[in-house]
Amino acid sequence: MSAPPRTAALPRERVDLRCGFGPLTLPHPILAASGCFAYGQQFADFMDLRRLAGLSTKGISPKPRFGNPLPRICETASGMINSIGLENVGAEAFLRDKLPYLSAAGLSVWVNFFGEDFDGYVECARLLDAGRGHGIDVLEMNISCPNIKKGGIEFGTVPEVAHRLTKACVAATSLPIVVKLTPNVSDVVAMAQAVAEAGAAGVSLINTITAMAIDVRTRRPRIATTYGGLSGPAIKPVALRMVHQVHRALPQLPICGMGGILSGEDALEFIMAGASCVQVGTANFARPDASLRVLDELHALMAELGIATVAEVVGCVQPIEPETPWNPAAASAPDAEAGKR
Ligand code: FUM
Repeated sequence: MSAPPRTAALPRERVDLRCGFGPLTLPHPILAASGCFAYGQQFADFMDLRRLAGLSTKGISPKPRFGNPLPRICETASGMINSIGLENVGAEAFLRDKLPYLSAAGLSVWVNFFGEDFDGYVECARLLDAGRGHGIDVLEMNISCPNIKKGGIEFGTVPEVAHRLTKACVAATSLPIVVKLTPNVSDVVAMAQAVAEAGAAGVSLINTITAMAIDVRTRRPRIATTYGGLSGPAIKPVALRMVHQVHRALPQLPICGMGGILSGEDALEFIMAGASCVQVGTANFARPDASLRVLDELHALMAELGIATVAEVVGCVQPIEPETPWNPAAASAPDAEAGKR
């Protein structure tokens, strides 16, 4: 049940930012998003990493990958298109060279992972299971990257396929699996339901929207692979709609919301739509400490609005009360009673 809106502001210290996400308890709802925060360590010069609730790493595959040809990023109005091609160091090097630093930083580590085929996903989940008890909290299964020829979104648009793969990966690890879904489908609720029924501990919503930009002077696409994934504020309304739809249909399924979050108010919109926590992505490219600004703004905004806990507003948005329809005929008609007099 959601609490009615409060009007009285609270002192900041009365706001409890802690939140639950399935089996996890987080100190607050703000994480850094996969693909926008590398393996975390690179950001330590710009911010105190320990203030983040957690981060999702760049997508990890069983073997290292070099990614797509350049150019693989371009800026657009209110967003960015990328086609990195899931370049990464591979599971073994991640566990050996990257995880110890993250584990020592004490934040919740979500490892975004994928394979080039069904067995590759399962193998990756099995390999990363070695990080259980050494810092990894969650495996975020990426079936939504639009930029690779094999794997990624290939597994994320047909509910039965996503169900089978999720089930196999859940069986390969005892870490919770959160499935990162694509918005490039007509029925995101069916996708969420399919992975939830296969044992997913939650869903991350949303990955990028397939997009294109053209350089009219060269008459060529701005991205070497022609199409890429659009992220940033341009996609926030789409992301909010999908979070809301999934939360309404599956209220017990934990949702991590993402897509264009720049401010505390953006984060609160996602929470009110139904997300238990959120990830900040593209904003990190403009300001490496963007996630902490979002956190501070969220804290101040909750105090201003008299929201004492995150839980009381998860999914609290209510439909607008239907108004009495305006009837132009009645409004302009001569007063019938007056006519009788
Ligand atoms: O191209 C990329 O590396 C994008 C990854 C993603 O959208 O998950």
